[in-house]
Amino acid sequence: MTELTERARNILRQNDKGGYTLPTHGLYPYQWNWDSAFAAWGFSTFDPARGWQELETLVSGQWEDGMIPHILFHRPDPGYYPGPDVWQGRGPVPSSGISQPPVAASFMAKMLAADPTGEARARAIWPRLRDWHAWFMRWRLDQGAVCVTHPWEAGRDNAPDWDPAMKAIDPSNVGEYTRRDTSHVDPAMRPTKYDYDRYIRLVQIGVSVNWDQEKLLTLNPFRVADPTMTFTLLRAQRDLAAMGRRFGEDVSEIEEWIRVLEGGAETLWNENTGGYDSRDVHTGRFNGVLSNASALCWYGGIDDARARPALERMLTSAEFGLASFDPDAEGFEPLRYWRGPTWPIMNYLVGSGLEEQGHNDLAQRIRRDTARLMEMNGFAEYYDPHSGAPAGGGSFTWTAAVWLGWAGQPPETRQGAA
Ligand code: SER
Repeated sequence: MTELTERARNILRQNDKGGYTLPTHGLYPYQWNWDSAFAAWGFSTFDPARGWQELETLVSGQWEDGMIPHILFHRPDPGYYPGPDVWQGRGPVPSSGISQPPVAASFMAKMLAADPTGEARARAIWPRLRDWHAWFMRWRLDQGAVCVTHPWEAGRDNAPDWDPAMKAIDPSNVGEYTRRDTSHVDPAMRPTKYDYDRYIRLVQIGVSVNWDQEKLLTLNPFRVADPTMTFTLLRAQRDLAAMGRRFGEDVSEIEEWIRVLEGGAETLWNENTGGYDSRDVHTGRFNGVLSNASALCWYGGIDDARARPALERMLTSAEFGLASFDPDAEGFEPLRYWRGPTWPIMNYLVGSGLEEQGHNDLAQRIRRDTARLMEMNGFAEYYDPHSGAPAGGGSFTWTAAVWLGWAGQPPETRQGAA
C-alpha cells in the first residue's frame, strides 16, 4: 500500500463519528448526503462493513414523503450555521429541508459489485433509494430535467448558474445571523454575504410552509433545472434498475423514469454555449454557464460528441483537471468554491463517466491531474486549477475517497485488469 493510500484511509477513520462520516472537522460537522455516499464507497475499499453502515445511516434520515435530506444533524454542534433549529426539518432525524445530488445508488452498485456478501444490506437499502428517486420525479421535474430549489441542493453552492435566480430573491427580511463557515476557512474561498443572505432567506421560506413541496412549487422564487441533478439522477436510476433486476424487483417504473430523464437532459443542451446548461424555470432562460456539471452527460450514460469540444477547451485552459467554471469566462475566480476551483469529486464523476464510454484519453488526463493534486497537496476540499494550491477545508473525506476508489487506481492496476 502506498503512503498516500494509508493517509487517505486515516482521513476516513478520523472523520468517522461512528456510523456516519463528517466531510471534515470544523467546517462541516454533520452527515452530508452526497459526501456520505462518497465516504461509503471510500470505506468499502478497505472496510466494506463500515461502507454499508454509512449508507444505512444516511437512509435512516429519510422523510415520510421519500426525501433524503442534504444534512442529518445527528448531534448538536455550535460550530455550524444554519443548524437544526433554523432548518426545522420534519424527518426521523433532525435535518435540513432540501436534498442533494442522488449519487448513493450509483455508489451502492459499485459496492455491491465489489462485495457480493453485502447483498442483504443492499436489498434493504434499495426500496429507500427507490422512494427517494420517486420523490425527485414527483417534485423536482421541469420538462423532464431535475430542478434545484436551493443552490445547496445541487451541491454547487455558489456556482454562477444561480446568479440570475438569486437576483430575484428579496433578502430584506432575513434578520441577523452569524455565519460560521468563515471562521473555519478564508472568506475569499467561500460564498459572499450577498449569496448567504439569499441562502438563509430560502430556508426561511421553506420553514414558513413546513417544507410542503406542493406550496413551495409556487412560493419558492428559486427553481433551476440543472445538469448536476439531472445527470446524477439519470445515472442513479440506471444503477437502481440494474440492482432491482438482480433482486427480482419490478423495475418498469424506473425504466420509464429513465426515458423521462433522457428527454429532460436534452432540454438542457444550450446551442449557444455548446454545453449542457442550467435553466431558470421561472423565466425559461438558460444561464449561459459552462461548468464541470456540463460534462456529466457521460456519467449519466449519454455519450454526446457535441459536448466534447467545450470540455477539451476547459481542460486546456486549466493546469489541473476540470475547473468548476469555464476558466475563460468573465467572473472566473480560481479560489472561490464553485466559481473556478477544481473539485476531485466532480473530476471523478466526469472522468469515470468518460472512461466508461471509452474516452480514455480525456478520462486518464483528468484522473492523472486529480491524482497529481493529491500527491502535491494532500486531500483538500478543492484546489486552484491553475496552481494546484489546496483550498477550502483540509483532510477532506470525499477527496480521500476519490483517491481510494479512482484517482490512485490507474486502470491497469485495478482488480480484473488484463
Ligand atoms: N455546503 C453548504 C455549506 O457550506 C451546505 O450544504 O454550509
